[in-house]
Amino acid sequence: MSSKSWNVLVTGGAGYIGSHTVLELLQADFQVVVIDNLSNAHKDSNSEKPECLLRVEKLINKDITFVNCDIVNINDLRSVFQKHTFHCVIHFAALKAVGESCQKPLEYYKTNVTGTINLLEVMLEYNVKRFIYSSSATVYGVPEKLPLMENMRTGDCTNPYGKTKFMVEEILNDLCISNKEFSVISLRYFNPVGAHPSGQIGEDPNGIPNNLMPYIAQVSVGKRDILYVYGNDYDTPDGTGVRDYIHIMDLAIGHVKAMIYQKNNNPSGFKPINLGTGKGYSVLEVISAFEKASGKKIPYKIVERRLGDISASYADASVAKKELGWVAMKNMDDMCADTWRWQQSNPNGYKH
Ligand SMILES: NC(=O)c1ccc[n+]([C@@H]2O[C@H](COP(=O)([O-])OP(=O)(O)OC[C@H]3O[C@@H](n4cnc5c(N)ncnc54)[C@H](O)[C@@H]3O)[C@@H](O)[C@H]2O)c1
Repeated sequence: MSSKSWNVLVTGGAGYIGSHTVLELLQADFQVVVIDNLSNAHKDSNSEKPECLLRVEKLINKDITFVNCDIVNINDLRSVFQKHTFHCVIHFAALKAVGESCQKPLEYYKTNVTGTINLLEVMLEYNVKRFIYSSSATVYGVPEKLPLMENMRTGDCTNPYGKTKFMVEEILNDLCISNKEFSVISLRYFNPVGAHPSGQIGEDPNGIPNNLMPYIAQVSVGKRDILYVYGNDYDTPDGTGVRDYIHIMDLAIGHVKAMIYQKNNNPSGFKPINLGTGKGYSVLEVISAFEKASGKKIPYKIVERRLGDISASYADASVAKKELGWVAMKNMDDMCADTWRWQQSNPNGYKH
């Protein structure tokens, strides 16, 4: 069966990771239907589609089928499955802001957990058994040992967002135990950054960015005055937090590889797979790489540690290599150069 005859439902496909993945899926000739409720995506009033997908269509010269649908509403989901036949679902739709999840835990459990259960129920009703889940390195909680491997303990998450990601993994595992035909690949992302090399699509955070790279990018174009570095007394080489940053295009290709794996191997069961580079960078290293890529000075100030932050996290990415034939190809210089191109050409994100 060629990719052409494979139909994929992408939930949350108007988001940061979803839009880049949709582009790669279409380029690999998969048929894609995107659903999104646009709660975290920009749409102009004169179009049905979000701006990021209009740009993806232009970049690859293909039409995207888009349905405005909220995964919390099970009947809306049913009507999508009634209209289309799917071989596989990639599930990105979720709320993702750690701080907000502490203020609005019920919203997070409703969207991320109830929404996912709705989706799984409808998949079972329509006999769709292949699922690729957007998980996160956050499911490992405070690392016992580095690098993080898939068979290490999960749980002990310090905030509601992380708990929803962990809970859904548990639900998916139980579902696979109960239904031997069901297959889940749970992709545990490390820290996705960067943008498409065209500078046409990228990360467009709402309000103050939660993550380092978009914050640095906004400082670089003068949208924010200064970067706050949370703590320089961690047990790391320069005292600042260390993370495994992964280029968004590598991450998108990881999903295509997972899809090809689902198609060619007809697997069953719950399979967690790390998507990271295996290399950690400190906050100060990222700042200096960005300064090199942009030619701009990034003013920063060291402040107190942030509650719940861990000192270091990076992946053992050998399972992805062995099972999916995937390795990250892009380095920190690429991540910074592409972020800078996107930010410079779109200082206000998708809003013109
Ligand atoms: N970006 C990261 O750093 C990161 C890291 C690890 C895991 N993840 C996970 O990856 C996935 C995608 O993240 P992202 O960074 O692209 O986020 P994003 O906010 O850009 O994308 C999520 C999309 O889901 C949509 N959505 C939210 N609630 C919905 C609902 N009820 N019904 C339909 N659509 C809904 C939003 O409108 C948005 O377009 C999420 O599940 C997130 O938890 C992200």
